[in-house]
Amino acid sequence: MVKLNGVWYRADGNTILENIRLDIKSGEFVSIVGPSGAGKSTLLRLIHMEIFPTRGVVEVANYKSNTIMEKEIPHLRRKTGVIFQDFKLLEDRDVFENVAFALWATGVRRSRIKKKVFKVLAEVGISHKRFTPVVQLSGGEKQRVAIARAIVNDPYVLLADEPTGNLDPDATEDIVGLIKRINKMGVAVLMATHKTELVKILKEKTVRIEQGRIVS
Ligand SMILES: Nc1ncnc2c1ncn2[C@@H]1O[C@H](COP(=O)(O)OP(=O)(O)O)[C@@H](O)[C@H]1O
Ligand SMILES: [Mg+2]
Repeated sequence: MVKLNGVWYRADGNTILENIRLDIKSGEFVSIVGPSGAGKSTLLRLIHMEIFPTRGVVEVANYKSNTIMEKEIPHLRRKTGVIFQDFKLLEDRDVFENVAFALWATGVRRSRIKKKVFKVLAEVGISHKRFTPVVQLSGGEKQRVAIARAIVNDPYVLLADEPTGNLDPDATEDIVGLIKRINKMGVAVLMATHKTELVKILKEKTVRIEQGRIVS
């Protein structure tokens, strides 16, 4: 599903990632753990194909970073759902619009969009606030909306970059539980975090990264 084959990433003369090998099978849950600055976000950006390796190849489903065409990138992006610690929602819109936005661009019919958005909002447990402006939501609720948006196009993989970074312990437990549930529904998950406690609770496959290298 996602494969990195001897991937290096350099920027401004610095080696940020070094010889990364990673293989995430469909339906798998992999945690990437490591201190701040280790290269976790860079790794996720490579998989999302916002940036491209200096050496080596990133594969996502049938796409390869060295052969993907410009016009295929929007499709790949939709199929690699992303969530962040700061949610990155459209703050002047409501819950429904934030999720529907990801479908408007794809040319799906309005009636179908509505159905699909309602379904995914139910899956993440935020249906009751579907027409609430997102500025009125708590952090945990905002992350639910972000997760709904990330999975509405049935992604190959959900990329979660410090998804609980801005959440209190209760909301953290909540969101981790939800991500696990989404994984059980068949979506592969790659979750980056600097919180070692979190991966201990998760008991999922863990990759430790330090100074751009996989150390275990
Ligand atoms: N575009 C860039 N140019 C130069 N340095 C970068 C760039 N992107 C990230 N870095 C550096 O790469 C390292 C890894 O960053 P990052 O992937 O954000 O780590 P993490 O997410 O593990 O905290 C950091 O030292 C950061 O400053
Ligand atoms: Mg990061």
